[in-house]
Amino acid sequence: MFLWGSATSSFQIEGNISNDFTDYEKLLGFPPYEDGSNHWVMWKEDIDLIKQLNHNAYRFSIEWSRIQPQINTISIDALNRYDEIVDCLLEKNIEPMITLHHFTHPRWFHGSSPWHTEDSIKRFVDYSDLIFRRLADRVKYWITFNEPVVWVLAAYADAKFPPAYNDLNLMMKALFNMMRAHVRVYDILKSYKAENQIGIAKHFIIFKEAREWFFPDKTIARKINYFFNVMLLDAFSSNRMVVNFALLLKFDEQINLNNKIDFWGINYYYRLHTKFKLSLNNPFFLYTKNPATDTGWEIYPKGLKKIIKLVSQYNKEMIITENGIASSDDLLRKKFIKKHVKIIRKQIEKGYRIKGYFYWSLLDNYEWLHGKSKRFGLVEVDYENQFKRTIRPSAFYYTKLIEKFLTSLHHKTFKEEKSTGT
Ligand code: BGC
Repeated sequence: MFLWGSATSSFQIEGNISNDFTDYEKLLGFPPYEDGSNHWVMWKEDIDLIKQLNHNAYRFSIEWSRIQPQINTISIDALNRYDEIVDCLLEKNIEPMITLHHFTHPRWFHGSSPWHTEDSIKRFVDYSDLIFRRLADRVKYWITFNEPVVWVLAAYADAKFPPAYNDLNLMMKALFNMMRAHVRVYDILKSYKAENQIGIAKHFIIFKEAREWFFPDKTIARKINYFFNVMLLDAFSSNRMVVNFALLLKFDEQINLNNKIDFWGINYYYRLHTKFKLSLNNPFFLYTKNPATDTGWEIYPKGLKKIIKLVSQYNKEMIITENGIASSDDLLRKKFIKKHVKIIRKQIEKGYRIKGYFYWSLLDNYEWLHGKSKRFGLVEVDYENQFKRTIRPSAFYYTKLIEKFLTSLHHKTFKEEKSTGT
């Protein structure tokens, strides 16, 4: 079954949360979070919306800070609630896909066992085990980390996310430990139910040199592409994590990942251009040539094709775990969806193993550094009017489009099976 639907993350929609982001809200100058999109209260209504849109799958994340609000306490109430959410989805024939880590942490985490220390691994493994014990019998699709490279860059290099460090060596240690945690969690999940599927949702960006004739712009594009897009893919097959950024950053460590990943989740949004700069500690900058969305991103559907080609070399199934647009122009959202789904359809027809597509996002939500001003939702949220939900026309369009594509896919496979006599 081709999985399709939408994706969300706990902190961005739930509301009523105390975690590292709410702790750092003032310090890092985040826009006010308040009640998110009030999903913790309105979750049943939101699942009804998913059903109304006929999606067959839904990707969401579990808020670690709810499950373990203090270092040695477990909230049974929170576990029960996620349990109810899963049951409610399954009753409606919506396949749940759960992300264990989508950028946020319990308040105690960075003070006691931050990701650049060994302790983090055990903490994350224990938390994941708790979740699996409750849900692995019914939830087949799991994601350990959402965009680990993006998260370490924001938290350890740019000091934009908690714990707000500015240290590339610590950043690599943190990423390294996250991947070690992934392998441990992978084994635990398989011990509960071997047929469950577990992946990582990786952010991919197309990096293109600003000036084709200028060798340094090209070198920068190649190096950043390796670090951002390729390094983790390689690490799973080569068991080494390697970065070589001249004077800026060098890392080369053995890591026994042993290909322990069932699918690569692809989060794809846009393309960036790279330009060389004469400066020792900051030798390049990145920019958008044709900003078209409310977040100032370029719309570049062809990039998705390139990413699928890249990831397919690693012989794993692929699921588009995020792809979407922030725009107050819903017609633009419709066009965005049309173009990207067309690419998916063509790539599947060519034989690429793409098993699903999740639009980001189900609801308008808290877009990190931008707060609630950027609207990605298939469903509009009226923050001034009791979080009232209204389905946007692009959402109905998306449903029709996928249904049509699935019917044609089905006919095609049926014909092929008939002609080969299988
Ligand atoms: C993240 C989401 C975010 C989206 C749009 C992804 O990088 O996983 O949390 O809202 O992009 O910026």
